[in-house]
Amino acid sequence: MTVQWFPVAELGAIPKNEGRKVSFGEIEIALFNLGEEYRAVDNRCPHKQGPLADGIVSGKSVFCPLHSLNVSLENGCAIRGAGCVKVYPAKVMGARVCVAFYEGKQ
Ligand code: FES
Repeated sequence: MTVQWFPVAELGAIPKNEGRKVSFGEIEIALFNLGEEYRAVDNRCPHKQGPLADGIVSGKSVFCPLHSLNVSLENGCAIRGAGCVKVYPAKVMGARVCVAFYEGKQ
């Protein structure tokens, strides 16, 4: 599989310690600006698919806006169990934030 980087947001479009929903094809991603880095995870909470992009960021985790599950933005897993979401590599390239996808099926 080949990793491909795709721009998903303009640099500066997401305030520090906030997330935004971005779409790549049919994939909906929650992209977070943690200040020194960006993190990208699937935008569906492992509990009942709440929109993680609308959650409250705390350090390197986010609290789901529906029932407050705390999900790590490092490994995508709920801090107290309850499942995980997929994590995508993210980085700044020029004036854009890019997320890595694998060619073919994820
Ligand atoms: S849907 Fe996220 S905590 Fe329930």
